[in-house]
Amino acid sequence: MLRVGVLVSGGGTNLQAVLNAIDNGEIQNAEVKVVISNNKSAYALERARNRGIDALCISPKEFESRTQFHDELLSRIDEYHLDLIVLAGFLVTIPEAMIQKYRNRIINIHPSLIPSFCGTGYFGLKVHEAALARGVKITGATVHYVDEGTDTGPILLQKAVEVKEGDSPEELQKRVMEEAEWVILPQAIALIAKEQEEKA
Ligand code: GAR
Repeated sequence: MLRVGVLVSGGGTNLQAVLNAIDNGEIQNAEVKVVISNNKSAYALERARNRGIDALCISPKEFESRTQFHDELLSRIDEYHLDLIVLAGFLVTIPEAMIQKYRNRIINIHPSLIPSFCGTGYFGLKVHEAALARGVKITGATVHYVDEGTDTGPILLQKAVEVKEGDSPEELQKRVMEEAEWVILPQAIALIAKEQEEKA
């Protein structure tokens, strides 16, 4: 059984897509053990609590230094003995010690076709604003492994989505979520869980 932890900052629709995929059997041999948010009002925490999943808020605001926040985040994560950490809209930089310790065991969902519209400053709606400003006709989403850079790790899955004439950033964000993110994030976890099962 793949032990999964999901890190979130906001609404948690990607987390919900993962939980639904576990329920309907699209993801097999995986269980979400903990959901962690940097923001206590993140609705994602509510989604976790409603299902009896441990839901923790670890906010950088509650620590005197970034180092203390990083240490706490890593030590709480370590307690769950996770096989996979999923960044599902987690908008805080991951500590380097965590990247080293969990190499090839952290994945991120990004709302564009990497290497377009990614890297520092490209998150959430800003990604879609940039795609519309550039006038691309195709965008999409990417699931990639997390390394020391921002959105630079090996790509696992991508899915393209059409940009429509007159799209607002919000409309494009919604289409990218529905047609790509909520599809490829569960697919990626299913693939990793299957791989682990085959190795066992
Ligand atoms: C998603 O669109 C995700 O791709 C994006 O944040 C949103 C979270 O939504 N992540 C990034 O921009 C990371 N750079 P959710 O909380 O409803 O899943």
